[in-house]
Amino acid sequence: MGTEDLTPDPGDLIDWEALHTAAVAAMHSAYCPYSGFPVGVAGLVDDGRLVAGCNVENAAYGVALCAECGMVSQLHLTGGGRLVAVYCVGRDGQSLMPCGRCRQLLWENGGPTCLLMTPEGILPMSLVLPQAFGREDLDRLADAGPAEEEPS
Ligand code: THU
Repeated sequence: MGTEDLTPDPGDLIDWEALHTAAVAAMHSAYCPYSGFPVGVAGLVDDGRLVAGCNVENAAYGVALCAECGMVSQLHLTGGGRLVAVYCVGRDGQSLMPCGRCRQLLWENGGPTCLLMTPEGILPMSLVLPQAFGREDLDRLADAGPAEEEPS
């Protein structure tokens, strides 16, 4: 009798093709006249919904919204829940790593087990954003009382 682990890999249970299709469709709605760099992203929610977003730029360049911002907004607008898998793509349809700020957005809304399609394959957010800052850090220090006086 074999002793191999027959537990399915969590990544195998995700319809990555459907996520990719939704991310590419979202990318085609990107408004990026300044960078010319369209981004689309799609996420699977723990209740089976798909949410998506595209980047939306602004004449005031720094105000640009990343695609992940739109996706997270749609997540909350359509009932909330937790992201379990995310696929972000660029113009070529290949997977694109979310920027640092957006990794934090994914962490808040999916946590360490949320899976991300990356150029190196499917990775959990715990590896994409190691030692992440999260709400536990706020909770842990909330009752710690006032900060020690700064040394003069
Ligand atoms: N962008 C995203 O939409 N998501 C990311 O994670 C990385 C960057 C967008 C922002 C900007 O509109 C364009 O890509 C170029 O940086």
